[in-house]
Amino acid sequence: MPIVTYILRDGERREIDVPAGTSVMEAAIHNNVRGIDAECGGCLSCATCHVYVDASSAAEIPSPDDSELELLDGVAAERRPESRLSCQLVVMPAMHGLVVQIPPKQG
Ligand code: FES
Repeated sequence: MPIVTYILRDGERREIDVPAGTSVMEAAIHNNVRGIDAECGGCLSCATCHVYVDASSAAEIPSPDDSELELLDGVAAERRPESRLSCQLVVMPAMHGLVVQIPPKQG
């Protein structure tokens, strides 16, 4: 099962086995990872599931589509090149080793 590492606001690292087909957001919610609010439940309308993908992560992740890029304009924390909406990051085996950092705020 792919492992995704979440770096929390206080620096704690949480490594979670994520079943393929589950989004990074869903895995966070199911495992009580603090800092991902996901107010819309993954409908791509809230931007409160913002994460920074660690550039050193070995994982291969698909590029964001136009809808995600548009919504990323509305994130509460600084938007960076590595910003993604975690509800759109559906974990696949090639994403094993993905590391995401929780931003300082979501709303
Ligand atoms: S959970 Fe709302 S945009 Fe991702």
